[in-house]
Formats: sequence, structure tokens, C-alpha cells
Amino acid sequence: MKKVLVTGAFGLVGSELVPALQKELGTDSVVALARQTVDPNFEGILEKGDVTDFNLLSSLIDKYQINEIYHLAGLLSAGGEKDPQRAWDVNVNGLRSVLDLAKEKNLRVFWPSSIAAFGPSTPKENVPQHTSLEPTSMYGVTKVAGELLCQYYFKRWGVDVRSLRYPGLNGWRASPGDGTTEYAIHIFYGAIKDNAYTCFLKPDAVLPMMYLDDAIRGTIELMAADADKISVRTSYNFAAVSFSPEQLAAEVAKLSPGFQMKYEPDFRQQIAESWPKTIDDSQAREDWGWTHVYGLEEMAQELYEKIKQKLASQ
Ligand code: SER
Repeated sequence: MKKVLVTGAFGLVGSELVPALQKELGTDSVVALARQTVDPNFEGILEKGDVTDFNLLSSLIDKYQINEIYHLAGLLSAGGEKDPQRAWDVNVNGLRSVLDLAKEKNLRVFWPSSIAAFGPSTPKENVPQHTSLEPTSMYGVTKVAGELLCQYYFKRWGVDVRSLRYPGLNGWRASPGDGTTEYAIHIFYGAIKDNAYTCFLKPDAVLPMMYLDDAIRGTIELMAADADKISVRTSYNFAAVSFSPEQLAAEVAKLSPGFQMKYEPDFRQQIAESWPKTIDDSQAREDWGWTHVYGLEEMAQELYEKIKQKLASQ
């Protein structure tokens, strides 16, 4: 029987992955681990603690007889620049603890990498699976280190760890985090509350993006795939759509007539400029059948409606 631990359970991804796993496996088979942020309406098994606490992780695995971990806890790109040391500690040392426990207790692991693993020497368009990885943000440095750790634990000890290079993920359930792509979520809160938003990126900063529903489904499909289909043990390129702030603003204006977008680029613009615009994810599509569903227009419509409903009910 599958028993799953999700770290970072109330972050952007966790807050939608946990209910999806509960639906698939049953509420009693999913343990949500959170450090601080907890949804007050959460129903399920909840534990509190820090992923850098090895003994805590170890005792939770034993207590609930966990055999699979979705290790989502981590700092994002902008947060990582504010506290690079903590970003390394949480993102790399936290992952290493999880991998050590996976080796010792025979667990399967999912861990997210990111487009932040790429850097200025990576091609800007259609980035191939195997390419230059020279990120300039601490977040990106932790993602490259993490990818190599995953591959090392797989090759050396056979740990079944699987990973995706998430693009900018856009969902409605959790509040947006401290990332560079997160303008694409903040914009909807601005549109609904003020019919206006000031963007911290330039109008033409095209980045790879994905609706969170697609990412959750892809994550679950990757973990369900036969091991012999998984040819990449660092992290798979994983893509859906690419768009710029001005293209998203045009979609938002269709949903919220009169919507005004202003631009005040800050340090996050530099991070965005170090990342590619489009990703070639054909390896994931070939190996385990990845396919995305949501385009820009459908994503914008759903986010607008769901965030509007959420804000109205608060
Ligand atoms: N959403 C992330 C960020 O912008 C990208 O992985 O930091």
C-alpha cells in the first residue's frame, strides 16, 4: 500500500498535489508536512516541522510507514536571492536528507527542479534536455546541485528518484510565492481587486509557463510510469506554453475590461533574463507520454474565475 509524505504541503504545488494524492490514495495515505503555513480548512494528516531536521523526517517515515516522498519544500528564485545561505541549506541539505532516508528505508522520491537550472549560456529557444547548466541565481545553483544528487543516488544506490524541471507554475489555491514567474499569478489578484497591476518584469520577458493542473497531473503520471521508461535521472524538461507579461495582460484585459498594467522591473527582471524562453520537452513526451492540456487563454480564464471565487468567499 502506498503511504506518501508531502513536504512543503501548503506551498503553490503542495496545496494542489496533496488533495490530488488524497483523492487517488485516500486521505489516510497522505501525510502533509508544513513548517509554518497551514490551510486552516485542511482535512487530513498534518505534521509540522522543518525539512532540514533529519530526525524529524526519519521519525515521520517510521511513524506512518511512508514509502514515497514528494519533497516540495524549498525557497524560490527571489527568496533565494534574499537569503542564499538558507536557500542552499533548505534546497540542497533538505534534499540530501530525503535521499539518504530514501536509500536507507527504500523510498521512492519526487523532487522538483526548475527552469532556473538554466542560465545565460543555455540556448534561449527550444532548450534541449541535455544542455549547458550555468545558472546565476542561488536557486538555480541549488537546482543543478539537486539534479546531480538525484542522479548520483540513483546510479550509486538505485534510489528511485524522479524529477521535473518545472516552468513557472500558475495556480489559484495557494497565495503566490517568492518567485520570478509568480507575476503571472499576482496579476489576477491585481485585476480582481483593483483592475490594475504593476509588474516587476518587463513587458516582453517571455518565460516558460504551465497551468498547475497540468503540472500536478504530469507529476503523478511521472511517478506512475514504469521505471524502465525513465531515461532521465537528473530532471526532465517539462513544458506547456510560453508567454510575456504583455501577452498575459492582453488576456486579462479580455476578462476584466479596462485592466491597466504598469511595469516597474526590479532584480527579478535579471533573473528572468538569465532563463530561456521556450523548452524542448520531447524526451518526457516520448518516455512516459507527457502532454499538456492548457494554453494561455484557457489558463487565464480558469485562474481569473477561481481566484475571483476564492476572494469573494473570504
Ligand atoms: N517559479 C519559480 C521561480 O520563479 C521558477 O521555478 O522562482
